[in-house]
Amino acid sequence: MQSLSSTQQKHPDLAALVEAFYGRARADAMLAPVFAAMIGDWPHHFRALTGFWAAQLRGRGVYRGQPIAAHRAMAARLRPEMFDRWLALWNQTTTQMMPPEDAAILQARAARIAEVLRHAVFGDAVSGDQA
Ligand code: HEM
Repeated sequence: MQSLSSTQQKHPDLAALVEAFYGRARADAMLAPVFAAMIGDWPHHFRALTGFWAAQLRGRGVYRGQPIAAHRAMAARLRPEMFDRWLALWNQTTTQMMPPEDAAILQARAARIAEVLRHAVFGDAVSGDQA
């Protein structure tokens, strides 16, 4: 049994959301191989991501990671359409588990961050199709 971080204790709704979301991501045919290859310590990931979303949603919670560097470092495993799949699962899970106003904020944040990450990982390969 893993001990919960204080952020997880203070934000039980987000802790449960994060666990449910990654449960779905790990069961998704497109996303599962990336998580299986990259994440060995799931309790650590849950703690970090609960802190990340607490900071995003409530301006509280501890997060000291580097999402852009982390996703760039696994660029070889990622494809642009994975971000659409990630967002679809996130929107589904937040709609089901959070009050509507929180779900709306979480979804808007995720969409914006996904765009930043996608651009950081793929650069013009995504938006340069019109050229
Ligand atoms: C293609 C879709 C995505 C995949 C497959 C993916 C996968 C992963 C994996 C495997 C890690 C662990 C990296 C490591 O431990 O080295 C990670 C970390 C993380 N991801 Fe994603 N991710 C995706 C999109 C997103 C999006 C859209 C967000 C936020 C809205 C996000 C937020 C984070 C954060 C905050 C971390 C922790 C980074 C750190 O501090 O080390 N990810 N992701």
